[in-house]
Order: sequence, then structure tokens, then C-alpha cells
Amino acid sequence: MPDTHTILIRENSPLRPYNTFGIAAHAARFTDIHSTDELRAALKVQTQPLLILGGGSNILFTRDWPGMVLRNCIQGITEARKFKNRIWVRVGGGVVWHNFVLWAVGKGYGGIENLSLIPGSVGAAPVQNIGAYGVELKDVFVELEAIELATGKRFRFNRPDCRFGYRDSIFKGPEKGRFCITSVTFSLTTNQHRLNTSYGDITKTLETMGVHNPTIADISTAVIRIRSSKLPDPAQLGNCGSFFKNPEVERAVLEPIQKEYPEVPHYNLADGRVKIPAGWLIQQCGWKGKRVGNTGCYEKQALVLVNYGGATGQEVKNLAFAIIDSVEKKFGVRLEPEVNILPTEASA
Ligand code: EPU
Repeated sequence: MPDTHTILIRENSPLRPYNTFGIAAHAARFTDIHSTDELRAALKVQTQPLLILGGGSNILFTRDWPGMVLRNCIQGITEARKFKNRIWVRVGGGVVWHNFVLWAVGKGYGGIENLSLIPGSVGAAPVQNIGAYGVELKDVFVELEAIELATGKRFRFNRPDCRFGYRDSIFKGPEKGRFCITSVTFSLTTNQHRLNTSYGDITKTLETMGVHNPTIADISTAVIRIRSSKLPDPAQLGNCGSFFKNPEVERAVLEPIQKEYPEVPHYNLADGRVKIPAGWLIQQCGWKGKRVGNTGCYEKQALVLVNYGGATGQEVKNLAFAIIDSVEKKFGVRLEPEVNILPTEASA
């Protein structure tokens, strides 16, 4: 009975507390939703354009949001099914991702420890198939439930349905803006964990910690240490983590770069192409640590753009495109933003 669910809609509501870049934009209308019933009630009174907001850690507001913002606050972590060595856990879309990781690590459930400290919410995690230190969300994903915004109908998506790719899924492509993800089910290990320590930084950090046979908790601690040392805390310095994706290019694009810079880091992909760290390309163009007005390129990780305080979204966007242009000029590689720049042409 959705009509019995009262929702409080705020007008001209500040978005600054709800985006980790700390951009001072406003939403014409804003409401928090705590259940699918509240979501359906909100959809009945929606105004376009409609934006579903999670942790606000992957968006850049370049101006005020002209329509309605629904912030997904749906909570709950449920142990749904137990198997011999695994457990399926269903998690509300509004749960803070890192709180879910801490819950799993505390229970001794494995699979997401490498994804510790990633900002954002559980409902947003499948949209860009979050990943770090050799693990991606798709590795532990079972299914998700989503509500279609136009109709309020419930849909279920399994792993193939989502078409996960590197920082990608159908929710970023063909189905962009069509759904609100209300819950995600994960498959975690309860014993015989498959720990992933192959990423160089993890191996080094575990050594520094004096750990030889790491537990799930040790890996989580190592990842938290690495992230805290390289990535700025959004509470101190506004940012959205990696602003760009690492480009995946044909080998023919890498070869001339390699001639001039034999040390260029790269990773071979299964399809014969190569991935080049965008942070390296940006650093070679001299942007690392450079400040432009109230924004800049972070001194410890060139892939991260930061708000030194008072930056507008447009300022950050201008810096991002200056970086894209200069990398393209020098290396012939056009970087793509990983962060969603809003409003898009379609939603404006
Ligand atoms: N590098 C530089 N200069 C820099 C940054 C990186 O030369 O300023 C080079 C170095 O060679 C380094 C390599 O890039 O060895 C890789 O750097 P890092 O391990 O920091 O990872 P990344 O490729 O820059 C990606 C993800 C991060 C994730 C890390 C660890 C993307 C877009 N970013 O960054 O994800 O934490 O790997 O797995 O794939 C995020 O998505 O917001 C994010 C932080």
C-alpha cells in the first residue's frame, strides 16, 4: 500500500552533504527513501529529471539539479542462504559499502576484503562494477533487485544480465537511469577462502605488517592502509577517487609510447589489447600535484582530482577536460571520465 507511506520532499535542497566532491549544488526537489514502498510512493509524485543518489562518491554536479533527487537509504543485511563453504548475503541498496565490508570481515566471510574502504553505497556498486587490488564486484555477485522508475515494477538481474565489464555494466550503458537498485545479493566464502594478494602493493604492505599467512582481516587492514596512504579522505579533501578510467588500447597505440618511455607500465588484456594506468599518463604530462584555482590533481595519485574548498563542478570539469586534451596531444590516448558528470545533456 504505497500511498500510506509518507515521504518528506524538500525543495531547493543542498546537495553538498551528499556528494564526496563537496560541490555546493542544489536539487529542486529531494527526498530520502528507506524502503521499496517509499520509493514507489516517491515515484508517484516524481518530477523529471529524476536522479537516484547513493553515496554520491562517483558524481560531479556541474550545476543545480533541475528535477528530483531520490537518495537510496534502504538498509538491511540478511544471511539469505547457507551452503557448505559459502553464504549468500542480501544487502540493502542504501547500505554504506565499507560498512558491509566491515560486517563481512567481522563475520569471517571472504570475497570483498580487497574492496575495503571504497566509498559509496551497495546499490551503486554494481553500476560501475567497483574494483580494486585484483578483485571486482562481479566476482562475488549473485543477483540484484531493482525497481523500474517509470512503472514501479520490480526486476531481478543475475550476473550475465548485468553485462559487467571494467568499471561498467548495463546500468551505465543501455539501461542508464531506468532503475533504482534496491538490494544486491553476494556470495561470500565461509571457509576455504580464496585470498587475493597478487597485487604488488598488497604483498609489500603485508610484508611491512610482518604478516606471512594473511587472514581476511589482515588483507582488509592492508588495503585500508594502502588506500589511506594514496587516496585523499573525502571528509578532508573533496574527491571522487579515480576521476578517469585506465584506458584499454590496441598494442599499436602502446608501441610508440614504449619507444619514448620504455618504462611505461601496462597490463596485457585477454583480448590482446593493453591497459595503461591513466595516472602514469597524467603524471608524464606534468599534472600531478598541480593546483588550478580551487581544484587540482592530487599530489599522491594523479588519477584523482580534488576540491581544495569552494570549487564549482564546472571548474573540476574544466580541469578534467584540460587533462584529457593534454594526454591526447602527448600520447594519442583519449581518457574517459569514470565519474558521472551531471546533469548530462539528456537530463539537463
Ligand atoms: N601511476 C603513476 N602515477 C600516478 C598514479 C599511478 O605513474 O600518479 C602508475 C604507477 O605505475 C602505478 C600504476 O599507475 O604502479 C597503478 O597505480 P595504482 O595501483 O594506484 O592504481 P590505478 O590504476 O591508478 C586503479 C583503480 C583504483 C584502485 C586501484 C587499485 C581505476 C580507474 N582505478 O587505480 O580505483 O583502487 O587501481 O586496484 O581503475 C576508483 O575507481 O575510484 C579507484 C580508486
